[in-house]
Amino acid sequence: MAMQLSSLYLSFFAAFDVALATSLNITAIGAKDGKSRFECWELAAPFVSSSQDGIVGSQTTFLGDVSNITYNVIPSGFEPKVHSAPRNHTVMATPGESSVIFAADTPDVSTEGHGNYFPGITETIFLQIPTKDNAIPEHKVVREDGPCPANKYEALRGWSTG
Ligand SMILES: *[C@@H]1O[C@H](CO)[C@@H](O)[C@H](O)[C@H]1NC(C)=O
Ligand SMILES: *[C@@H]1O[C@H](CO)[C@@H](O)[C@H](O)[C@H]1NC(C)=O
Ligand SMILES: *[C@@H]1O[C@H](CO)[C@@H](O)[C@H](O)[C@H]1NC(C)=O
Repeated sequence: MAMQLSSLYLSFFAAFDVALATSLNITAIGAKDGKSRFECWELAAPFVSSSQDGIVGSQTTFLGDVSNITYNVIPSGFEPKVHSAPRNHTVMATPGESSVIFAADTPDVSTEGHGNYFPGITETIFLQIPTKDNAIPEHKVVREDGPCPANKYEALRGWSTG
């Protein structure tokens, strides 16, 4: 029995990275009663300690299957009409943890959608990464009335300073 358990344990760690207790909090544009709103989601998938060659021991979390990827160049000061998310997708703009968000206020759940403003003196580059089959990653909403506050990223701060 002990033998069986330890070989199970070994095969688990041989096959997978080591799961950590923390998971990613990500700001999302969700919708409630037909209106878009900011939310903070804590994803269900935990960070793992990576076994990937080149980044061994760093913290990694899988965001799910994706469909394709679009590169957008938005001029400085650009202010589009209020709009909904064309599909459930991850958005990544300029460096920083809060520049990766998830947009889930698709027209079937949000009547008007959301606005954007692109400040700064240069253009904004952002990548749109639709999920496969419009699925959204498993998560729980940890804040219903605003984006993730800075303390929702504090575990990342700890990792970046080693
Ligand atoms: C990217 O994927 C989305 C759906 O996941 C689809 O609507 C869109 O047409 C795709 N774009 C291209 C250029 O294939
Ligand atoms: C986006 O995901 C939400 C939550 O699963 C779902 O209600 C909505 O229908 C999805 N949007 C589309 C366009 O499939
Ligand atoms: C996400 O928020 C939870 C508490 O809601 C916290 O325990 C966890 O450390 C946060 N994750 C990161 C990466 O900071």
